[in-house]
Amino acid sequence: MGVDSVVLIGLSSVLVLVGLVVVQGGVHGGIPTTLDGPFKPVTVAVDDKFRGRAIDLPDTDARVQRNVNGFEPEQISVSLSSTYDSVWISWITGEFQIGDNIKPLDPKSVKSVVRYGKSRFSLSRKAVGYSLIYNQLYPFEGLKNYTSGIIHHVRLRGQKSGLKPDTIYYYRCGDPSIPATSKIYYFKTMPISSLRSYPKRIAVVGDLGLTYNTTSTISHLMSNYPDLILLVGDVTYANLYLTNGTGSDCYSCSFAQTPIHETYQPRWDYWGRFMEPLVSKVPIMVVEGNHEIELQAENSTFAAYSSRFAFPSEESRSSSTFYYSFNAGGIHFVMLGGYIDYNKTGDQFKWLERDLANVDRKITPWLVATWHPPWYNSYKAHYREAECMKVAMEELLYSYGVDIVFNGHVHAYERSNRVYNYTLDPCGAVYITVGDGGNREKMAITHADEPGNCPDPSTTPDNFMAGFCAYNFTSGPASGKFCWDQQPDFSAYRESSFGHGVLEVKNETHALWTWHRNQDMYNDAGDQIYIVRQPERCPVEPEVEGALVQDLEPEPVHGDRALACEDDENRVLAREEDKDDEEDERALDCEEDKDDEEDDGALAREEDKGDDEDD
Ligand SMILES: *[C@@H]1O[C@H](CO)[C@@H](O)[C@H](O)[C@H]1NC(C)=O
Ligand SMILES: *[C@@H]1O[C@H](CO)[C@@H](O)[C@H](O)[C@H]1NC(C)=O
Ligand SMILES: *[C@@H]1O[C@H](CO)[C@@H](O)[C@H](O)[C@H]1NC(C)=O
Ligand SMILES: *[C@@H]1O[C@H](CO)[C@@H](O)[C@H](O)[C@H]1NC(C)=O
Ligand SMILES: *[C@@H]1O[C@H](CO)[C@@H](O)[C@H](O)[C@H]1NC(C)=O
Ligand SMILES: *[C@@H]1O[C@H](CO)[C@@H](O)[C@H](O)[C@H]1NC(C)=O
Ligand SMILES: *[C@@H]1O[C@H](CO)[C@@H](O)[C@H](O)[C@H]1NC(C)=O
Ligand SMILES: *[C@@H]1O[C@H](CO)[C@@H](O)[C@H](O)[C@H]1NC(C)=O
Ligand SMILES: [Fe+2]
Repeated sequence: MGVDSVVLIGLSSVLVLVGLVVVQGGVHGGIPTTLDGPFKPVTVAVDDKFRGRAIDLPDTDARVQRNVNGFEPEQISVSLSSTYDSVWISWITGEFQIGDNIKPLDPKSVKSVVRYGKSRFSLSRKAVGYSLIYNQLYPFEGLKNYTSGIIHHVRLRGQKSGLKPDTIYYYRCGDPSIPATSKIYYFKTMPISSLRSYPKRIAVVGDLGLTYNTTSTISHLMSNYPDLILLVGDVTYANLYLTNGTGSDCYSCSFAQTPIHETYQPRWDYWGRFMEPLVSKVPIMVVEGNHEIELQAENSTFAAYSSRFAFPSEESRSSSTFYYSFNAGGIHFVMLGGYIDYNKTGDQFKWLERDLANVDRKITPWLVATWHPPWYNSYKAHYREAECMKVAMEELLYSYGVDIVFNGHVHAYERSNRVYNYTLDPCGAVYITVGDGGNREKMAITHADEPGNCPDPSTTPDNFMAGFCAYNFTSGPASGKFCWDQQPDFSAYRESSFGHGVLEVKNETHALWTWHRNQDMYNDAGDQIYIVRQPERCPVEPEVEGALVQDLEPEPVHGDRALACEDDENRVLAREEDKDDEEDERALDCEEDKDDEEDDGALAREEDKGDDEDD
C-alpha cells in the first residue's frame, strides 16, 4: 500500500476521522457532507474476526420451503411502476418441476387477480394481470431440466387518477375461482413527485445470494424500516450449483468440466420464499447482474430474471426488462443494463437519452442511476472491467447531472468522491458500490493499488460484456500506468465487510447516505455522509420534450383502461367478452402466447411489449 494513503485500523480510528471532518466544517451533527470533500482516501483494514465462510441456506431450512397448498400464491412481492399511482404485485402458483420429462404447467389454468383497497375490510377494487412460466433447459446427457411454477404479474392502477400517494393499500392475490388466494398483505405507495416529498428511507443492497450472512443483511435492513429496496444485481447465485443440486463457492473451480454453466433453479424459489416477508410489503426494484445471465438451451439467457420480476419497462417506454426508469417521490431512478448492448448506437443508449431528456428536475430534483458492474472500483476484483460501458455512457450521465450511482458486483463496500472521467469534479456523481450483501463467493479484500495486485489489462474485460477499453491512464497521478500505486483519489472510503446502505433524501439538496455493516449494532454506521446537490454550481441540460413520464399529469389513457379491471367482477367479465379493453386483451394475449413460450418464457414475453403504451 502506498505511503500517502490513509490506512485506518478498526472502528475507533474511523471515529477519530469523523471527528476531524467536523473540525473541517461539517455542520450536520458531526456527519460530513460532500461539500467538505474531496476527502483523502480511507481504507478500513479487514477485520479478521469476520472472515468466516458465507454458507448457503440448505433446502431443509424452513424459510425456503413451500408452505402453501395447491395453487395458493407464494413468493409474493411488490414492485413499483414508473409513477406513484400504480404498483405491480407478483406471485407464483403451482409447483416447479426439475428432472427428466418435465411437463410445464399451463399458465392459463390459474387466474391472476388482485383484490385491494384502502381498508383491510373492504378490498373493493380488483385488478387482473397476466401469467407465464419459464423453462431452464439443458440438452446435455445427465443434466436436469426445470420448469417454473406459474408466475403472475398484476399491475394495480386506480380509476382515473390512480392509486393515492403515500397511502397504505391492503391486498389479497390469487385465483378466487379455484379458490386459491393469499392472506391479506399491505404496501404503501410512494409520495408524490415534487421538490418537497421523498420516501423516508431507501435500502440499497447488492450481490445478496442466500447465505446465513444474507439473512443477517436482510434482518438488519428490515430493522431500518425501508420504504423501498433497490437490488443492484446478482440475486440468488443459483448458478453456483449443478442441476443435481450440488453447489460450490466457486463454480469454475469446482466444476471445470461441465458442458454448459449449469444452474439449480429451485434456488430462485428458495430466495423468493425467504424474501416474501419483506418484499410482500416493501417494494423491491431489481436490475440484472452477471449471475442472472444463466445461459441455457438455444443461447437463451436471463429467463428467470426476466420472468420472475415485474419491471416498469413499458411504463417507462423501454422495451426491455434490462433497463427502465421510475420515480420515487422527488427522485428519478434509471436502472441500466451492463450485460446487454450499452453502446451509443444501441437501443438502451437511445432510450436513456430520451428518458433523461424527459426528467423535469423541478419535479424530481434527484437523479440516481443504478447498474451492476462499477466504473469506479479500486479493488482488484473486477478492476476496470466495465470500462467500455463507462466510455459509452459516462458523458451522457454527467451532462444530465446524475447525483448518485449505485453498483454491486464487487463483494465489498466503496464510496467515491465526486468524479468524472477519473478526475475529481464537484459536479460529478458519487459512486457507491454495495456488492456486500453476503453471497457465498469470496469477499473482495485486495486492492489493485497494492504491490503485485495490478491486473494485466488483457485479463480485465468480462467475456459477456465484449470490447476492450481499459487502457493505461493518460493523465493524473497514475498517468502511463494501469493502476494507481496508492488508493486512488476518486476512492473516498473502502472496506471489506458485509452490509447494506440506506439513502434518506431530506430535501432538494441534501441526502443522507448510511452504510450499515452486519457486524455492528443495528443503529451504528460504518460510513455516513450527506450527499449535497449544488444545482446553481452544476446546471444540467434543460429538459427537451416536457415531462412525459412525470407523476403530476397521469395519462388519461391509463385511467380509462384501468376501469375494466377495477370494477366489480361482473363488469370485468362483460368487458372481457366485448374485448373492448386493452388491459384485458393484454392479459389474454399473454396467456395465448404460452404455447409458443414453452421453450423460453422470457423472450416471448418481451416480444409482447410495446403494443400497449404508445399513445
Ligand atoms: C458470515 O456469517 C458467519 C456466521 O454464519 C460469521 O461467522 C461471519 O463472520 C460472517 N462474515 C462476515 C464477513 O460478516
Ligand atoms: C431437456 O430439454 C432439452 C431441450 O428440450 C432436451 O433435449 C433434453 O433431452 C431434456 N433433458 C431431460 C433430462 O429431460
Ligand atoms: C452431482 O453431480 C456431481 C458431478 O457429477 C457429483 O459429484 C455429485 O455427487 C452429484 N450430486 C448428487 C446429489 O447427485
Ligand atoms: C449459440 O451461440 C453460439 C456461439 O455464439 C453459436 O455458435 C450457436 O450457433 C448459437 N446457437 C443457436 C441455437 O443460436
Ligand atoms: C476522458 O479522459 C480521456 C483521457 O484523458 C480522454 O481521452 C477522453 O476524451 C475523456 N472523455 C470525455 C468524455 O471527456
Ligand atoms: C461496444 O463498443 C465497444 C467499444 O467500441 C466494442 O468493442 C463492443 O463490441 C461494442 N459492444 C456491442 C455489444 O456492440
Ligand atoms: C501500462 O501500465 C503498466 C503498469 O501499470 C505497464 O506495465 C505497461 O507497460 C503499460 N503499458 C503501456 C502500453 O504503456
Ligand atoms: C435540507 O436538509 C438539510 C439536512 O437536513 C438541512 O441542513 C438544510 O437546511 C435543508 N435545506 C433546505 C433548503 O431546506
Ligand atoms: Fe456480479
